[in-house]
Amino acid sequence: MKRYNIAIYAGDGIGIEVTAEAVKALKAVSARSGFELALTEFDWGTRYWKKTGKSVPDDYLKQLRGFDAVYLGALGDPANVPDHEAVRPLIEMRQGFDQYANIRPAKLFPGVRTPLADRKPEEIDLVVVRENSEGEYITAGGFFKRETLDGIALQTAIHTRKGVERILRFAFEIARKRPRHRLTMVTKSNALKIGMLFWDEVLEVVRKDYPDVTAEKCHIDAMCMALIQKPQAYDVLVCSNMFGDIISDITGAISGSIGLAPSANINPTREFPSLFEPVHGSAPDIAGKGIANPLAAVRSAAMMLEFLGEAEAAARIEKAVYDCVVEGRIRTPDMGGSSTTHEVGNEVVRRLAS
Ligand code: IPM
Ligand code: MG
Repeated sequence: MKRYNIAIYAGDGIGIEVTAEAVKALKAVSARSGFELALTEFDWGTRYWKKTGKSVPDDYLKQLRGFDAVYLGALGDPANVPDHEAVRPLIEMRQGFDQYANIRPAKLFPGVRTPLADRKPEEIDLVVVRENSEGEYITAGGFFKRETLDGIALQTAIHTRKGVERILRFAFEIARKRPRHRLTMVTKSNALKIGMLFWDEVLEVVRKDYPDVTAEKCHIDAMCMALIQKPQAYDVLVCSNMFGDIISDITGAISGSIGLAPSANINPTREFPSLFEPVHGSAPDIAGKGIANPLAAVRSAAMMLEFLGEAEAAARIEKAVYDCVVEGRIRTPDMGGSSTTHEVGNEVVRRLAS
């Protein structure tokens, strides 16, 4: 029997609550499929910080290196751990494991309320492909005379031809497999005349290999507006690291609830483990209340199985979530219901078992 070694890094806040439900769904689906999951839990984050003064052990990347995948809940606990320290491992895993493609699908399910007026489910079906390994998230720069009136902060984005080209190709491949064969590259070359102009130039080279895909560019500001006004005009959106961060919050919100939005941080060469996590964060405001929506976490677990080659099991989870949402009886408050995290998780498991 196939066996996958999965690191479970639940993290902080609601990350802990939603991961428990994702693990339940994983166990339920693997029990009825031809594979085994060996789950190893790590208590990193606030819990580890309280014991050691660090959010992760120094060698945590080494510890994770040999796993088939890493499953992450959420990071961040501003009351206890400085934010940049709490989320540091997330950015380090993405960069250290060369998880250069961050995939964030956003689809409006029937019966789910979108904040946009008059949008039907078939009108919001997007995939954000975010460059995840460089760009604006590289820590390049520094301070000069920081505390003085002459203080300077310099932070430089780094875009490499290799990095831009590979993420564009990755996004074109996804666009090619979707019915609309449509790709929009988010840019800002009217103002960022070095970095984003470079993206524009690389697009012109790469698009030649994908004549079957209609590719266009859109500036980030216009893109934010267009996603609100006419999301139906878009299909696959490919973005630099920070633009993808921004855009995927919008696509998450317009598809009903960020509590439904899953993501995959992929190392396509499979040299390193890939990382799967809900798009939402640790939500300190509702942490511990048992009302967080676990469905983004459950769907991220499905993306993990799909990447591991268990497409059928992934599809079963996705269908259980879809049916649960569309039926609409058992929903957490973010989706207009009054059910708890556990109740929603149990409903997914019940559907997986039936
Ligand atoms: C995300 C998050 C992270 C990011 C934070 C927690 C560093 O917002 O995954 O979208 O900016 O990438
Ligand atoms: Mg974000």
